[in-house]
Amino acid sequence: MKEGTSMRLSGKTIIVSGAAHGIGRAYSEKLASEGANVALLDIDAKRNEEVAAGIRSTGQKAIAIETDVRDFAAFKSAADRTAREFGSVNGIINNAGMLNVIPITRCNFEDIPDAEWDESFRLNTKAAWYGCKAVLPHLKAAGGGSIVNIASSTVYRGVPTRAHYVAAKSALVGFGRTLAKELGPYWIRVNTVCPGSTLSEESPDAETIAMREAPVKVRCLPRVEKPADLVGTIAFLMSDDSAFMTGQVLLVDGGSAFN
Ligand SMILES: NC(=O)c1ccc[n+]([C@@H]2O[C@H](COP(=O)([O-])OP(=O)(O)OC[C@H]3O[C@@H](n4cnc5c(N)ncnc54)[C@H](O)[C@@H]3O)[C@@H](O)[C@H]2O)c1
Repeated sequence: MKEGTSMRLSGKTIIVSGAAHGIGRAYSEKLASEGANVALLDIDAKRNEEVAAGIRSTGQKAIAIETDVRDFAAFKSAADRTAREFGSVNGIINNAGMLNVIPITRCNFEDIPDAEWDESFRLNTKAAWYGCKAVLPHLKAAGGGSIVNIASSTVYRGVPTRAHYVAAKSALVGFGRTLAKELGPYWIRVNTVCPGSTLSEESPDAETIAMREAPVKVRCLPRVEKPADLVGTIAFLMSDDSAFMTGQVLLVDGGSAFN
């Protein structure tokens, strides 16, 4: 351990879904750097294994589990394997969603294909429900834990052409508040994090960079948001530093929306 490095997550095991790319990768690397054992769940098995190997090369413990989070049996099996390999599960970041790797069509609400509306709720909302169900017995067995569902600042802003994405992410807010009440007696905390528009693309073209630069003019903190801007909040919510916080929504967007 480097001098001055906080290891506040030592002894905790945390599952991250959508860990192979973008912001989920940054969450995984940050949680490991603070001492957590991390289980990386992603449909991209090759990249997921590369990210896990990179974490292991720093001396931390990481496993990659190929998982389609839209499949409850697969999610449950990944959570059970995590508990077997590391001895417990203490938290989960339900991060996998539709965005870059699984792109979302931009169109007026009346033109959204029926199947894509359903798919948005399946991946952005239902998979988080699956993740919470999959870890529940393990968090109870551990005497408590921390769940974070990743929504979006678009919930508080509204974004024309993305009604199916914004609606699916909005559902996570009410879901999280309800779970916080149901699970509080088990000392399981449930919070929601809303990233702002974040430059998470690995090889962004000029159009993408312009799209990520656009919100800068409406931010209190006027610069492009990067995955690194989100990781401290996630580590805080997974740590005992946030032990009395639950049912909350945290916007991490440089102050472009307020809840
Ligand atoms: N980037 C942004 O501007 C932004 C803003 C607000 C919220 N978010 C949310 O943050 C999360 C991460 O965003 P990102 O920009 O890193 O997205 P991304 O598309 O770059 O990464 C998503 C990850 O999820 C994985 N994934 C997709 N479908 C899966 C499935 N069925 N099972 C398992 N894994 C699956 C992908 O392989 C990838 O690793 C998403 O939920 C997104 O909606 C992103």
